[in-house]
Amino acid sequence: MTEKKHRKIVVSGIRPTGNLHLGNYFGAVRSFVKMQSEYQCYFFIADLHSLTTHPTPENLQSGVKQVLAEYLACGIDPEQATIFIQSDVPEVVELYTLLNMNAYLGELERTTSFKEKARQNPDNVNAGLLTYPVLMASDIIIHKANFVPVGKDQQQNLEMARKFATRFNHMYGHRLFPLPKPFSFDGKDMIKVPGLDGSGKMGKSEGNGIFLVEEAGSIRKKVMRAVTDSGPTMMNQQKPEPIRNLFTLMGIVSSPETVAFFEDQYNSCQIRYGDMKKQLAEDIISFTEPIREKILAIRNDEAYLSRVAREGADKARESAARTLSEVKKLIGLNRLW
Ligand code: TYM
Repeated sequence: MTEKKHRKIVVSGIRPTGNLHLGNYFGAVRSFVKMQSEYQCYFFIADLHSLTTHPTPENLQSGVKQVLAEYLACGIDPEQATIFIQSDVPEVVELYTLLNMNAYLGELERTTSFKEKARQNPDNVNAGLLTYPVLMASDIIIHKANFVPVGKDQQQNLEMARKFATRFNHMYGHRLFPLPKPFSFDGKDMIKVPGLDGSGKMGKSEGNGIFLVEEAGSIRKKVMRAVTDSGPTMMNQQKPEPIRNLFTLMGIVSSPETVAFFEDQYNSCQIRYGDMKKQLAEDIISFTEPIREKILAIRNDEAYLSRVAREGADKARESAARTLSEVKKLIGLNRLW
């Protein structure tokens, strides 16, 4: 194995806005676990990003603790990866301020997630929301990341990070920042885990999450309620979106044989959605149950969680401070007198 300091660098984060769901796991955390032994990894909890929606201090505290416990329960190993809380690394915020000077109103306003959030919450179109991609770019480039494992919904934010990095490099005539690339688990496209409510992605704000920490009974209920239709009427008929979503989820958690079986049933118009859902629910549960047990065991061990966060913050700050000092020198913020 390459010596750690020569390995490519990986950065990614998750907002502490609720329990992790299958979308977070299969879009991001699964890659974190896979990458940690091969790359130099920084995985954090994006508490500053979550402030755009004004959580109460209590919710923020418990959200951060929960995601930290969930990271560990999923198998992210603090001996291999640096795990930290975003606000413990103030250097990120300083770089964010500097990057903001070269981030333009027009491009920020055109970002899909900004437009979407502004539409959903017209009373809370705050500046933090507008400059969200700048803070995210800062998270990434402050460690000079080469790869960023994220789901498809973060693709545009990642493109913005590349844009801000390129702009800085050009402006100061120096290739300080590598251009961060997306990383997908299987080397194919970035993924979008669908919800089971007919259309769209699984998400915290969509209210359609199946959570890693969820009890089996509750998962069964949610899956059995998934939207379907009255079934195919022609052989090999194209699947409408809700059915496609059911198959996509099955493709993620079930064995290839199981998926093939239900594909055949669908194509020959014999499918019984009730059977398919039962199978899907059981396959989800066999995947989540061991993780759930670990989450419950770790989440009350505050001494351990706090040690992991403290040690992670020290390592992340070291790397961040190094980059920030190079940035300040290039800008001319270092004092020469
Ligand atoms: P967040 O907290 O919304 O989501 C965390 C991660 O989960 C992925 N994800 C999904 N992937 C596939 N299908 C889904 N249905 C699904 N839902 C969520 C997201 O793509 C993400 O990878 N802006 C980020 C947090 C962030 C960040 C960063 C990420 C802040 N700074 C720097 C990477 C690098 C966010 O809100 O993710």
